[in-house]
Amino acid sequence: MKHFLDIDKTSVAELHGMIADAKAIKNARNGRPRGAPDDDLPLKDNMVALIFEKPSTRTRVSFDVGVRQMGGQTMVLSGSEMQLGHGETVADTARVLSRYVDLIMIRTFEEATLLEMAEHATVPVINGLTNRTHPCQIMADILTFEEHRGPIAGKKVVWCGDGNNVFASFAHAAGQFGFDLVFSGPEPLDPEMGFVEQARAKGVSVEIDRDPARAVAGADLVVTDTWVSMHDAPSARERRHNQLRPYQVNEELMRHANPDALFMHCLPAHRNEEATNGVMDGPNSVIFDEAENRLHAQKAIMRWCLTP
Ligand code: CP
Repeated sequence: MKHFLDIDKTSVAELHGMIADAKAIKNARNGRPRGAPDDDLPLKDNMVALIFEKPSTRTRVSFDVGVRQMGGQTMVLSGSEMQLGHGETVADTARVLSRYVDLIMIRTFEEATLLEMAEHATVPVINGLTNRTHPCQIMADILTFEEHRGPIAGKKVVWCGDGNNVFASFAHAAGQFGFDLVFSGPEPLDPEMGFVEQARAKGVSVEIDRDPARAVAGADLVVTDTWVSMHDAPSARERRHNQLRPYQVNEELMRHANPDALFMHCLPAHRNEEATNGVMDGPNSVIFDEAENRLHAQKAIMRWCLTP
């Protein structure tokens, strides 16, 4: 069973293969209408369940479009409307869905839910985000970086802000794709040190620097994310804003990075909070390429999952 649960759980060769496949999949579309099928239909006669226990625009639409372009069919399920949200176990849900569908993508809160789904499903399971990681996003980000700047190996990536689930998948990717990573944020919002240590153990540099201007010096890529994630308590909003305001990515901060440094944000953004409009809409921003590349990267991930 080939589940795509996290970047650190997939081999380096397979990850590179998926990125190469994503580039080929994107090129093969060659500007054809979004509703037109791909030439090959690797998901022909396949049914895919897309489960969302949290809101989504990009993940929902890109998976749905991707499956259809690959010849499959989708059903989008809201966790709260399933028996899963009313006491049925994750294990039983996994066993039942496996009798109906060929692939499951789930966006959920606790990582334990994803792992239990994968343990009991007899079809591949894809992580569409948990409180802990967001691997599909970072596969799209690697694809985006490499389209613009070539191989990401050996480059310097700087994360400004909250040490959240998206940062965690960047740390996984640093170890697997071989780039250096700097986290610049307030100490109370540091990432789990396990992610940092794991990447360091693979031979890449992962630093923590509280000074954002110093952190972004020489950066090839500057990344940020919303200051209040979906799983954060709304009551923490003001405190988090006060803690994170010094780490806003603005034009002044970007002047410290390499002149051709890319800017990324997985979206949705709170404009002029974590990043200014000047940066988000500026010449170095590739935020909408990232969003588009969710589609191509996830098509490569699904193809990998379903290839024996
Ligand atoms: N970046 C991302 O996962 O977007 P959605 O929450 O809209 O799916």
